[in-house]
Amino acid sequence: MSKKTLIALRTSAVAAAALMTALAVQAGEVEVLHYWTSGGEAKAAKALQATLQGKGHTWKDFAVAGGGGDSATTVLKSRVVSGNAPSAAQIKGPSIQEWAQEGVLADMSDVAAANNWDKLLPPVVANVMKYKGKYVAVPVNVHRVNWLWANPEAFKKAGAKVPTTWDEFFVAADKLKAAGIIPVAHGGQNWQDFTTFESIALGVGGPDFYKKALVQLDQTALKSETMTKVLSTFKRVKTYTDKNAPGRDWNLATAMVIRGEAGMQLMGDWAKGEFIAAGKKPGVDFTCVAAPGTAKDFTFNIDSFALFKIKNEANVKAQKDLAAAIMSPDFQEVFNLNKGSIPVRLGADMSKFDDCAKLSAKDFVETAKANTLVPSIAHGMAVSSAAEGAIKDAVSNFWNSDKMTVADAVNKIAAAAKTK
Ligand code: GAL
Repeated sequence: MSKKTLIALRTSAVAAAALMTALAVQAGEVEVLHYWTSGGEAKAAKALQATLQGKGHTWKDFAVAGGGGDSATTVLKSRVVSGNAPSAAQIKGPSIQEWAQEGVLADMSDVAAANNWDKLLPPVVANVMKYKGKYVAVPVNVHRVNWLWANPEAFKKAGAKVPTTWDEFFVAADKLKAAGIIPVAHGGQNWQDFTTFESIALGVGGPDFYKKALVQLDQTALKSETMTKVLSTFKRVKTYTDKNAPGRDWNLATAMVIRGEAGMQLMGDWAKGEFIAAGKKPGVDFTCVAAPGTAKDFTFNIDSFALFKIKNEANVKAQKDLAAAIMSPDFQEVFNLNKGSIPVRLGADMSKFDDCAKLSAKDFVETAKANTLVPSIAHGMAVSSAAEGAIKDAVSNFWNSDKMTVADAVNKIAAAAKTK
């Protein structure tokens, strides 16, 4: 072989090695802490994993089971305190500010600017993702919380009508009960109790009362006649749940409606992810309808990921690639089709989404304009985590107590709302 050929071969070998090294340096790892472990949630989480792997990076899964995320938050706190933060974690709402104040979150302004996030996100969303004007979290979706899920077969069997008001709700519940069907599928965990409570507060009291009492934590509103009505309605719903409800996971309650063992569930549209994962069709196997009295309102719950400050350069690149991918049109579509939520990115193509999602997308825009778009307390969108925890406990204590009167509950919730 001529000297010239040898040199050419050696040069290309060196170039190839350099390219492999460059790619190897770019290929990083992202350890993701999340709590998406149910059927629909897990499929959606897999879509996120595939997106990251598609960019040549490694996904290190750190799933902490427990709907609503309380357990995940506890584990995250212990990891950060011990100096072992994951690179990304499911953190959302005002707690993004609480984590940012600790100085542990990475600045994503470069990714946000390069991908035009300020133009792609509604201000109500963008503002929650920023700390002191800089992006420190990336939003994944928009869940609607104020939904009622119904099994049409069960309703037909009971000769009942899917309710749109609370009076109709109790008429339907009585008919389901008479037909031997559990009227309301419920999981007795405090975030589920509060998910039911806040939809009743919205339906009975209306969006202005909801914001005054549960977002601004106004003591007069919290002690008003309206709150008494809300709590009485709330406790009446409990009489239509089954004796095995305490401690039940939310997706097992959804499965009761899927099987027709129960007629209804008051739950956010991650429940739709369970119906879809079970191969059920909206409008055929299940009905989605606004929680009674809330058809003109939208309780939002926006999942997001915050990225933690890390040193390894390749892993920082992987973090940024993950953040950029989450906001991409392709990911926004495949993730939300599985998760039951709608894309958070404005102008998303909704043609592949079902009627429940299309209604959600329409209402999200309309309620923002009508000022009837409200944050979910149950899902960490509205108040400090300390106040949220105290109020949730007060509400669940009332749901579970046979002795606490409505008047006692009003006072305990108002007191809990003062927690700083
Ligand atoms: C919510 C979360 C949803 C879903 C639900 C049940 O707080 O935002 O994505 O996971 O809990 O776990």
